[in-house]
Amino acid sequence: MKFNTKILGTGSFLPDKILTNDDIAKRVDTNHQWIVDRTGIHERRIADPSKDETPSGMAKIATERALEVANLTANDIDLILFSATIPDHFFPNTACMLQHKLGITNGCPALDVNAACTGWMYLIPMANAMIQTGLYKHILVVGGEMTSSFNNWDDRNTCILFGDGCGVAILGRASENEESQIYSTVLTADSTKRDHLKIPAGGAVQRITHEVLEKGENWVQMNGQEVFKSAVKTMAALSEKVINDAGKHMNDVDWFIPHQANLRIIEAVGNRFGFPPEKVIINVDKYANTSSASVPIALDEAIRDGRIKRGDNILLAAFGGGLTAGAAFLKY
Ligand code: COA
Repeated sequence: MKFNTKILGTGSFLPDKILTNDDIAKRVDTNHQWIVDRTGIHERRIADPSKDETPSGMAKIATERALEVANLTANDIDLILFSATIPDHFFPNTACMLQHKLGITNGCPALDVNAACTGWMYLIPMANAMIQTGLYKHILVVGGEMTSSFNNWDDRNTCILFGDGCGVAILGRASENEESQIYSTVLTADSTKRDHLKIPAGGAVQRITHEVLEKGENWVQMNGQEVFKSAVKTMAALSEKVINDAGKHMNDVDWFIPHQANLRIIEAVGNRFGFPPEKVIINVDKYANTSSASVPIALDEAIRDGRIKRGDNILLAAFGGGLTAGAAFLKY
């Protein structure tokens, strides 16, 4: 028996604290207009760990919102898949932290996956396969990111780009009379470009030392132009592939939700297809790049404000460090 996968519910959480471009310009040599012109970003949210706005803490609230929509309780979740570029801790993993915070007592497996900003997208085909085969019934797929913990606030090349937040989706079985399904997915990784976006120190290869801290090697480092070019090319190619693999056409896409890294990247991908801008979901202006949380946050917002409706065909695409990339085409 093969089941179709349905998004049963979505949820998101954004911290209240807003950091504007002008706030950043007080610290590094930049200005609001430069940031808006090059990225489309106006402001971003910053998590407060003292209020438990951590990856798992933000995910708790986002999940409770998704459970309400799905009409499920926390103990109905039978698998937690968590994408966090910087987890709560190296271990226990963030998915276990979330299981605890949600009060889940059914002993469901809880797993972290790291594919940087593509992490949530990487989890979609995996969750889809496990729903289709009947292995699990209600899979919680989380992108929960506290990018402010890897952001170097003294580096104007990177600190303008990122923000904190969390988005989740609960995937389950569509019933026989429902059309919801994931038509097609694709994932890639190009390790020849692994050095273009990275945090050099803090893991097993380079532990934190005074010297590491002095050189700032514990913060994110990026070759912005290379990442930009690769992002446009890859997201466009993978988007086209999932639409073709589904036996559909660009006109069949009701909504396109790209990774929210940079408005110019989003526009360049859209232009490659001649995709109508009004069908592209954009919130990078408000939240900046929330890493693997960006696609599920945008999905949740567009569902809650009524743009995305049941039966709509949705194209999702993401890219990130690795360089990893992925796309999915589905009927909501
Ligand atoms: N404010 C003002 N000037 C800045 C600046 C800032 N925040 N950051 C860089 N500059 C300067 C540079 O120093 C450079 O100056 P120079 O010409 O005197 O050397 C100039 O602006 C142009 O820099 P450049 O890197 O060529 O700009 P860009 O048009 O490529 O834009 C990014 C920079 C980072 C916005 C852009 O490359 C980008 O968004 N890349 C993708 C990043 C991304 O999405 N990462 C996450 C992936 S998940």
